[in-house]
Amino acid sequence: ADTSIVTSTPFYFQGAWFLCPPVSPRGLEQVESFEVRDDDVFVSAFKKSGTTWTQQIVSLVTSGSNFNEVSKIPVYKRVPYMERMDLSGGPDAPPIISLLKDRPSPRLMKTHLPYKMLPRQAREGKGKIVYCTRNPKDVVVSVHNMSLMHDLHHPSPWEETLDNFISQPPQNSWWNVIPEYWSHRDDGNLLFIKYEDMKKDLRGHVVKIAEFLGRNLTAEQIDEVTANCTFTAMKENPATNMSRDPLMQEKLFKRGKEKGIEFVRKGKVGDWRNWFSPQQLEKFEAFHKEKMAGIDLTFEDEE
Ligand code: A3P
Repeated sequence: ADTSIVTSTPFYFQGAWFLCPPVSPRGLEQVESFEVRDDDVFVSAFKKSGTTWTQQIVSLVTSGSNFNEVSKIPVYKRVPYMERMDLSGGPDAPPIISLLKDRPSPRLMKTHLPYKMLPRQAREGKGKIVYCTRNPKDVVVSVHNMSLMHDLHHPSPWEETLDNFISQPPQNSWWNVIPEYWSHRDDGNLLFIKYEDMKKDLRGHVVKIAEFLGRNLTAEQIDEVTANCTFTAMKENPATNMSRDPLMQEKLFKRGKEKGIEFVRKGKVGDWRNWFSPQQLEKFEAFHKEKMAGIDLTFEDEE
């Protein structure tokens, strides 16, 4: 596996392991060689791009809209972050994926990995990948707010988050990762969706995802899934809003609680307008245009 994504060493900080990015070379090797089943579903997204939203839709769809059952287990356990090392175990902890071997089907997994680092068998067409993407200006704003509210992130000034986002190492850069997934949009086992389109037509996307996953849901079930995946529903649900989950609140989101920032935060298209200065916007747009030259992928950036 290409381990260049491992850019920092985990360290112990204020009683917790600080893992950023939370992957290990060993974990990546286990991802690469993971034995994929035909009915495995990978929910993949760049961070802060609608991952949790997509996890919840996929989870409800595959359960046949069994909201009561699905709500018993928080989304981060139902659709676990496969390449992440188990947070409780320190730097030698096994990656979550090693715990999934014996899970009954259908196994649902979340990943933030670039396409080329997905399990080899998934890249060869086995299992299904639902990829969710979002306009990068709202992504960086969401990343920034996450850094302000998550106890394991270093809160940094907006200017710094923005600079870091633009100058990420190539293997982590939005402008490398997203075009690579985009180039696979016509693969039979990959569904490419955009956050902004989901905002416009949530029900339509529930239908699309159900069809892609080969699930026959009645119109009523589709309505139910849609109702349980709106922004308000997910913000109020402690199984999807990690900062309202009592355990996670204690473990990871104390700072967010103090600051009044929640994990399911604002859910808007165009919140970037509240953050970018005209100069920052000009610089960002120029960079984006240069990087996306010749790539036929555009994003709406207002509602
Ligand atoms: P904001 O910070 O802009 O509000 P991820 O799950 O990849 O970390 O993405 C988090 C972003 O998705 C946050 O964006 C969060 O509010 C938003 N989000 C979560 N659930 C949503 C929903 N049901 N509808 C719209 N946005 C949602």
